[in-house]
Amino acid sequence: MTTAKSRALVLESFGSLPRLVERPVPEPRPGHTLVRMRAAQVGHLDLNVVDGKFGILPDLPAVPGTTGCGVVLASDIHPEGSLVRLGGKALGLRRDGCWAEHALVPDAAAEAVAEGTDPALACSWFSPVGTAWAAVHAVAQVQAGERVLVTGAAGAVGAMTVQVAARAGAEVIGVVGRPTKLAHVPAPAKSVLASDLSVESVGGPVDVVVDTVGGPVLRDALPLVRPRGRVALVGYTAGRELTVDLADFLLADVSLLPVNLMTRGKEIAADAEGLLAELRSGELTLEIERHGIEGLTEAVRRLRSGEAVGKVVLELG
Ligand SMILES: NC(=O)c1ccc[n+]([C@@H]2O[C@H](COP(=O)([O-])OP(=O)(O)OC[C@H]3O[C@@H](n4cnc5c(N)ncnc54)[C@H](OP(=O)(O)O)[C@@H]3O)[C@@H](O)[C@H]2O)c1
Repeated sequence: MTTAKSRALVLESFGSLPRLVERPVPEPRPGHTLVRMRAAQVGHLDLNVVDGKFGILPDLPAVPGTTGCGVVLASDIHPEGSLVRLGGKALGLRRDGCWAEHALVPDAAAEAVAEGTDPALACSWFSPVGTAWAAVHAVAQVQAGERVLVTGAAGAVGAMTVQVAARAGAEVIGVVGRPTKLAHVPAPAKSVLASDLSVESVGGPVDVVVDTVGGPVLRDALPLVRPRGRVALVGYTAGRELTVDLADFLLADVSLLPVNLMTRGKEIAADAEGLLAELRSGELTLEIERHGIEGLTEAVRRLRSGEAVGKVVLELG
């Protein structure tokens, strides 16, 4: 009898990319669900793991990939042939994750997904949608009629934040770093290049900034906020440091507030779920870049360089 083979991306040393290897399909075991993977997200968290720069890291060799989606082959609790989203339970952190054609995961790491959902969307929507909702509603508490500036507005979180803020009745200005991204800022936002950022270019002071980029972009956006305005900080892709002159900070009277999806997850889950239906119907848009399992190097290069638009996903079968 021949053993069925499966391809997997295996990380052998931190700081290098995983290698595509062929290995046997994992054997089903009690308490675990065996999944034929369809899609897996390549996210900033996954890259931090690959680089060995995250607080929780696997013993090597290991398969990265913290979120994915696939079809159940064997499980005690999930129907065979059903579509499931994989995530949590330290997948891709302490145990093998989703960058493989097959994954054997604890039952609790798999949750049912409505049939017909695009697997690439199923594995990648929660982070941008949940984070956007948390930033706009839970943290910045955007009100109808306010002016909201969103940085990284063609990125996954940024583009979703633009849409969520616009639905809250805000006037939205989207900031992007490169001219090629101007066209990817969702309507109805006005789009502006980060290099042109000024009170004039954004049409006057703003009430709120949602910053997904950090570093010099945050530094340049802060002076655009009116006194008593708010800045919700989501990410620091462009730099993790900000020097604050305390006298200027008091004078400006602008609140700098952290957005943390991990601590806000439960609070915003129901609202985020509601938006999934709108993503499926196309009322909300999330751009997704799709790469094959052999395309990991290019997928990582585009995500790291900031060239990628929206989510980056490996399609696995
Ligand atoms: N706080 C939380 O709970 C939470 C949750 C989810 C994500 N995040 C973080 O939020 C950030 C945005 O996530 P995302 O999924 O929207 O990422 P993304 O799709 O990759 O977008 C990030 C954007 O950052 C801009 N950028 C500026 N300088 C960059 C640089 N040096 N390298 C790469 N990109 C650069 C790029 O836009 P331009 O080309 O327009 O400059 C890019 O579109 C990430 O840092 C992520 O880790 C935080």
